Amino acid sequence: MRIDIITVLPDLIRSPFEASILKRAIAKGLVEVHMHNLRDYSTNKHKNVDDYQFGGGAGMVMSVEPIAACIEKLQAEREYDEVIYMTPDGETLNQQMANSLSLLGNIIILCGHYKGVDQRVRDLFITKEISIGDYVLSGGELGAAVLCDSIIRLIPGVLSNETSALTDSFQDNLLSPPIYTRPAEYKGHKVPDVLLSGNFAEIEKWRENMAYEHTKTRRPDLLEE
Ligand code: ADE
Repeated sequence: MRIDIITVLPDLIRSPFEASILKRAIAKGLVEVHMHNLRDYSTNKHKNVDDYQFGGGAGMVMSVEPIAACIEKLQAEREYDEVIYMTPDGETLNQQMANSLSLLGNIIILCGHYKGVDQRVRDLFITKEISIGDYVLSGGELGAAVLCDSIIRLIPGVLSNETSALTDSFQDNLLSPPIYTRPAEYKGHKVPDVLLSGNFAEIEKWRENMAYEHTKTRRPDLLEE
């Protein structure tokens, strides 16, 4: 998979790709991540990429020309399955969306800033708009990092044990059951006996039941879906 990220702050979004699972996925060649500094596509002598809003109003708007130049250059080089815009008014990211995006070949992610992008960028180039939640961030970069993490960990071979992604919370609309490691007793708090029983059928049944109970108390909305 190849991910091209278009941003005015490439330094802000680099570090999540330089540690742990994402770093290893890139080193193994399972995913390529390329950052594009939008200012490199500005024809303005000050390298501006934004301008005042027509009709008045507070806040600058990201101009169509540099974004168009960057996306068109990338699209001339290869086909993209999706051109994604990170925005609080997009579709809210969930596990199902991460699953389907992880199956794609090439995607572009555009990070918004200031008041957002000129509507013509959305009309002409964007195929999918994604929000990471009902709150407003200073820009799309942190959202893009969250999106990339959720996608990349699902690419086969990225996690050492593929089943560990399949048993994540949300994969079957259930939250994960509680997990324990040694010691078997800590300050009087014991690990449930069933987990020490060696009876894998019983353990599986317990986990399913706990996942259901956990979901029912914390996220009953997931059970209704
Ligand atoms: N940019 C600003 N806020 C955002 C959000 N909640 N999700 C995605 N991109 C954003």
